[in-house]
Amino acid sequence: MTQDLFSKFEPIWNEYQSLPTDGTNPFNVSMEKVLSPTEAIINGKKVILAGTNNYMGMTFNEECIKAAKDAVDEYGTGTTGSRVLNGTYDSHRKLEAALCDFYGVKYGIVFSTGYQANLGVISTLCQKNDYVLIDQDNHASIYDACSMGEATIVRFRHNSPESLENRFKKIRDEDPDAGVLVVVEGVYSMLGDQAPLKEFAEITKKYNGYILVDEAHSIGVFGETGRGVAQAQGVEHMIDFIVGTFSKSVGTIGGYCVSNNDMFESLRLVCRPYLFTASLPPSVVASAIKALEIIATTNLREKLLNNTRRLNEGLRKAGFEVATVGEGPIAAIVVDTRDRAFAFWGGMINAGVYVNLAIPPSTPKRLNLMRCSLSASHSFEQIDFMLEAFKKSGKKFGVI
Ligand SMILES: Cc1ncc(COP(=O)(O)O)c(C=O)c1O
Repeated sequence: MTQDLFSKFEPIWNEYQSLPTDGTNPFNVSMEKVLSPTEAIINGKKVILAGTNNYMGMTFNEECIKAAKDAVDEYGTGTTGSRVLNGTYDSHRKLEAALCDFYGVKYGIVFSTGYQANLGVISTLCQKNDYVLIDQDNHASIYDACSMGEATIVRFRHNSPESLENRFKKIRDEDPDAGVLVVVEGVYSMLGDQAPLKEFAEITKKYNGYILVDEAHSIGVFGETGRGVAQAQGVEHMIDFIVGTFSKSVGTIGGYCVSNNDMFESLRLVCRPYLFTASLPPSVVASAIKALEIIATTNLREKLLNNTRRLNEGLRKAGFEVATVGEGPIAAIVVDTRDRAFAFWGGMINAGVYVNLAIPPSTPKRLNLMRCSLSASHSFEQIDFMLEAFKKSGKKFGVI
């Protein structure tokens, strides 16, 4: 009998079908109108956005909007081509130059998303006979990059230099000459914890490998000029590749990788997720250039960190189990069961606050999380409104 290609999705499809249809299904949210970086209309009602990764509030920045509009007028709506055919405009090169200036490095390549940046760089650099050493909590794009290439994948315990060293030593014992790339994230998006980059970079150098840091959630947020955790920890000179995205602090879409490696530009000739997809539209490129300029020169970081501090402290004081680690843009509440987490999320949307419901397998330690990612654009009144909604809904559904 012919195998039904869809039968394997039945369990998850049935679970999805059993979710409420009254507007409290967290996987079926539609923004009817977006009013600002922090407010939207959902289910016909004004809601505060507390789960958008819009850390700097750049989506409505007037200068970014003007740059995007001017670019549409001048260049049209899209490039309709790959970077290596008709899809490189002067502005793509300007954006790559702006990234090099921003990071103070020699080379930068822009991809159409951050997902593709990881996919492209990791799967192209690491091929047969090479190794990729990844933190177990790394993002799906890093896992997918690993399954796309032919390198051997070795996972190490989350944020554990000891575990990295053990694995690396074993690889070197067996294969002294293999190419090895270590891949970690600056900040982990679920709990906001930072990687111990100095230790990781020292181990990488000791065993003669390369290290890539994905700063998707840290660009704009950490470091004196917003370059991320590597800058904040003073270890940029020890990092071989930094990957990032324009889809969070930069407020648009796109991904990139920067490096000082003098062979870096060769990736443009061999990296399939760079070669075989259309380039970013000129409007996106123009707003990204403007946002990078603003991020480097305006201190929105302090405002964002003050906002998150207020939310995390308020949640702890109210009696929630807060799993957030350290200072950053994330606040994460642990909920004991999956059912309660869904109900709590529904209570929050009804109370006028949108947060992210994050459930296993995409969470660390298989936690059910209500995850907030705040913005420098939130006001203290909005944070206090969120806190009241959390308390009300938390009591109603037995979370506190
Ligand atoms: C760590 C990390 N890397 C990469 C990405 C992918 O970025 P993009 O949205 O630009 O594809 C994300 C997005 O959530 C991320 O969290």
